[in-house]
Amino acid sequence: MCLHRRARRVGEHQRRARLTALGPAGLLLLALAGCDRSVPPDARFQTVPQADARRGQALLARHQCGACHVIPEVPGAAGRSGPTLEHFGRRSYIAGAVPNTPELLQRWLQDPPALVPGTAMPAMGVSPEAARDMAAYLMALR
Ligand code: HEC
Repeated sequence: MCLHRRARRVGEHQRRARLTALGPAGLLLLALAGCDRSVPPDARFQTVPQADARRGQALLARHQCGACHVIPEVPGAAGRSGPTLEHFGRRSYIAGAVPNTPELLQRWLQDPPALVPGTAMPAMGVSPEAARDMAAYLMALR
């Protein structure tokens, strides 16, 4: 478990300070992300637990997201009124407004104007389950 490995390096006091600064959400992320050193640091936080990216891919087609977006490997997704979603997993912000995290992306997909008032992207009737799977697919576009 890498927390323990790290503890030896930074010392007990420092470790406690760091863990406190992370808070419960940070600790949960650490736990979910695991400690695989072969995964680059940014990618560890970009996975969507319990999601099915393949199903997400099909749902993106079914919800007609491609009417407004270019989406790699989604048939017919060549729309131009929204930004291209190529390499979306590397994007730092959603709609240039909120950080691109799995949690915020799922909220965005369900109801964009609720997250970013005034945005031109309409709510598309996406359920929480569909948003989870779509987010997994979009986050994997690197
Ligand atoms: C009617 C056109 C339209 C449809 C349909 C649409 N979008 Fe969008 N989408 C937009 C526009 C316009 C933006 C840019 C919003 C902004 O910057 O405020 C956007 C932004 C986004 C972003 C953020 C992109 C970025 O670079 O920040 C994502 C992700 C996204 N849409 C996903 C989807 C998904 C998934 C669907 C299907 C459920 C969908 N969109 C359907 C118009 C659309």
